[in-house]
Formats: sequence, structure tokens, C-alpha cells
Amino acid sequence: MSSHVLQTDKSVFTTSIALVSALTLLATVLFLVAALIGVISRVPPDDGSRKGVAVIERIKPVAQVAIAVPKPAGAEIKLTGQEVYNKVCINCHAAGVLGAPKVGVKELWEPRFAQGLNTLANNALSGVRAMPAKGGDPSLTEANIHDAIVYMLGETGIKTDEAAK
Ligand code: HEC
Repeated sequence: MSSHVLQTDKSVFTTSIALVSALTLLATVLFLVAALIGVISRVPPDDGSRKGVAVIERIKPVAQVAIAVPKPAGAEIKLTGQEVYNKVCINCHAAGVLGAPKVGVKELWEPRFAQGLNTLANNALSGVRAMPAKGGDPSLTEANIHDAIVYMLGETGIKTDEAAK
């Protein structure tokens, strides 16, 4: 009887050890899995946002330069004589506002053209009587004014030696 009790005690003891070991192992595995999930879920977003910020910081100055540089240069230099006329000069020179010589009316332009293209260009640049300097648009360049006059004369049927740029 006593040996039977001893055996039972031993088997209970062994079972307990095994159970505790299994539970400890399970707890350890769960802990490691939880830790691993924590690491996985935390690191990539940090990495991603750091990369995102770095990309934005790297792109920013380049984009600002790309936007800032061509605009002023393009707006002034790239206009053709026709574009300058359609933007500014047309407001007076199409209908003859304030007595402006109308484009297409040769009799109005011939005596003016007799002064020479340079004089016309200088007068249009600095203004003459009711004609405002640069047609009232200070952003226009000397070349813009020149090209617009060549265009207006051309539309009127007066040929200049210089081709409109
Ligand atoms: C606000 C109206 C107005 C605008 C805009 C205008 N002009 Fe005139 N322009 C006039 C008037 C008015 C005259 C006639 C001035 C005069 O001889 O009394 C004139 C005359 C001229 C003449 C002849 C100058 C001369 O010596 O006889 C030229 C060239 C000319 N304009 C070019 C231009 C060009 C180029 C533009 C566009 C960039 C332009 N104008 C825009 C009103 C305008």
C-alpha cells in the first residue's frame, strides 16, 4: 500500500513538473511571439515615415528651384511679338483707343514708320503723348516692345527689314 502511495505521489510529481515546464515553455514562446510582433509592427512605420520625411526634404529645394527659375525668364523672353500684342497692345491698337494708330490702317502707320523703327520702339518704350510707356505693362522687355511693333507693322502691311523674333 505504501509503495502504491509512493508511486502515485511520484507520478503526480512528475506530471506536475511536466505541466509546469510545458506552461513555462508556452509562456516563453507567447512572450517571444508578442515581442516579435511588437518589433515588427513598430519598426517599419518608423522607417517609412523617416524615409518619407527625408524624401520630402530632398525633393523640396529642387522643386522650389525648378518652379522659381523658369517662370520669370520664360514669361518675359519667350513671348512672341504677336503674344505681346494680344496681351497688351491690342487693348488700344485694335480699336484706336485714345487715338492710337489702328493695326491694319496703313495711312495711320506710314507717317509714323517714316520716323524709323528705332524711334517708334523708343517712343513705345518710354511713352509718347497718350501712348503709355511699354503700353502700361512694365514687365515687358525692350525686345518684347520691338517684336510687338514689328508684328503690328506686319499686320498693317508695312514691311520692316527685321523679322519678328
Ligand atoms: C493705353 C492704350 C495703349 C496701349 C495699351 C498701347 N498703346 Fe501704343 N499708342 C497709344 C496711343 C494713344 C498712341 C498714339 C500716341 C500719339 O502719337 O499721340 C500710340 C502710339 C504707338 C506707337 C507709335 C509711336 C510713334 O512714335 O508714333 C507705337 C510704335 C506703339 N504705340 C506701340 C505700342 C506697343 C508695342 C504696345 C504694346 C506693348 C502699345 N503701343 C500699347 C496707346 C496705347
